[in-house]
Amino acid sequence: MTDDPGAVDAAAKRGSLSLRLGLGWAKSHSLHTGQTPVMKYNRQLMQAILWDKIHVADIVGVQVISLDEAPGGYGAFDAGAPKNSSSIHITCSSAQPDRRTAFCKSRHRPDRRLMALQGETYMFPKNTWYVACTPDEIADGPLGRQICGEKIAFFRGPEGKVAAVEDFCPHRGAALSLGKVVDGKLVCGYHGLAMGCNGKVVSMPGQRVGGFPGVRSFPVEERYGFIWVWPGDPALADASKIHHLEWAVNPEWAYGGGLYHINCEYRLMIDNLMDLTHETYVHGSSIGQKEIDEAPVATRIEGEEVITERFMENIMAPPFWRLALRGNDLPDDVPVDRWQICRFTAPSHVLIEVGVALAGKGGYHADPRFKVSSIVVDFITPETETSHWYFWGMARNFKPHDAALTASIREGQGKIFGEDMEVLERQQKNLESYPERKLLMLNIDAGGVQSRRILAKMVAKEQAPNAA
Ligand code: FES
Ligand SMILES: [Fe+2]
Repeated sequence: MTDDPGAVDAAAKRGSLSLRLGLGWAKSHSLHTGQTPVMKYNRQLMQAILWDKIHVADIVGVQVISLDEAPGGYGAFDAGAPKNSSSIHITCSSAQPDRRTAFCKSRHRPDRRLMALQGETYMFPKNTWYVACTPDEIADGPLGRQICGEKIAFFRGPEGKVAAVEDFCPHRGAALSLGKVVDGKLVCGYHGLAMGCNGKVVSMPGQRVGGFPGVRSFPVEERYGFIWVWPGDPALADASKIHHLEWAVNPEWAYGGGLYHINCEYRLMIDNLMDLTHETYVHGSSIGQKEIDEAPVATRIEGEEVITERFMENIMAPPFWRLALRGNDLPDDVPVDRWQICRFTAPSHVLIEVGVALAGKGGYHADPRFKVSSIVVDFITPETETSHWYFWGMARNFKPHDAALTASIREGQGKIFGEDMEVLERQQKNLESYPERKLLMLNIDAGGVQSRRILAKMVAKEQAPNAA
């Protein structure tokens, strides 16, 4: 590589260079050996380069030489140096716990363990199970949904077994999810190509389809009232790794929930759920109360889980919990002990044990006659690098057969989680506008920070050059 942006030697080899930095992309239209990469303008990347935060030549492992030395440089390339120049993808931040830190490590070479050369890179693990949808969403026909960057069509194949294939018709590229399911096959709504559950073309009117290319199919499982998908390498998919959810199979429990699409990266939602001090401010009229701020929070790691918890004693219950106390035939105007135990299980679950017990009856451990407790269920499924699907709900083990109570809790919870949306989407926009700004990390942020560390390790392992 020379510092001459214009010259292209006839003997130069042509390739492309893509750089990914946090949420930003820059891609050269064409990069010739012996030529400085000319990149499409990307504000974040350009700022990083101009402010000397990253060193492109270091990252791609080349030496910058002066124009006078260029002929010698070309000679080195002609001797075989550019062998791997066809396509290089680099990330210097996506595998880090916090993408902002990429900009804070001024004058340090990017950690090579965090780079993935010659492969796709992304900020979420893909070799894992995510909640993709709920059965009602595919009851009347196929569903198109993007998960971890993969556009997927979900449908029920033969005998109602759920199937997931790339949402791309091999004929002309129409979205298969716009079609319909006929006899367990997904029929493209454009010209009638019929796709099987395995991604192979079954038939098309007036055509022989023997030589037609297929599309990817994705491992998919229906369990616990959800449809789970494995967006990564199918060979690694193991259904036994789906997190066991006792409340989903035990008749002593009831569940109600919903789905929100949120335009922010999935880790901001994890941060939100692993630090409930925001309840006081974002949810002041339902579950917030000043005692949350005043109670100390403790965070610990157990294996692959991060647990952050807070206990409050002898306080008055906020409106949402008063409703729950009444729902379980308990008084709502006497002091209670309250708890919040947030458990993050990588990569996408935050299950939060919450509840109140009449004060002095043992709090979290109180006899069920004196408390209302439940599990706030959060499945956070990345859609793209700047958006996610948020499956929210509440599982409770009091009055499980009371459908009206399930509905009123669901309505209350839906409103509460709706309050988080605007906060998170505006936060995402701010972070995109000012990626260089350094953020604080306070004790209340420990749950989110530890969760990000686990995610970063998973991503780095998956994207390591020789990862299985
Ligand atoms: S695009 Fe699907 S059948 Fe033509
Ligand atoms: Fe919230």
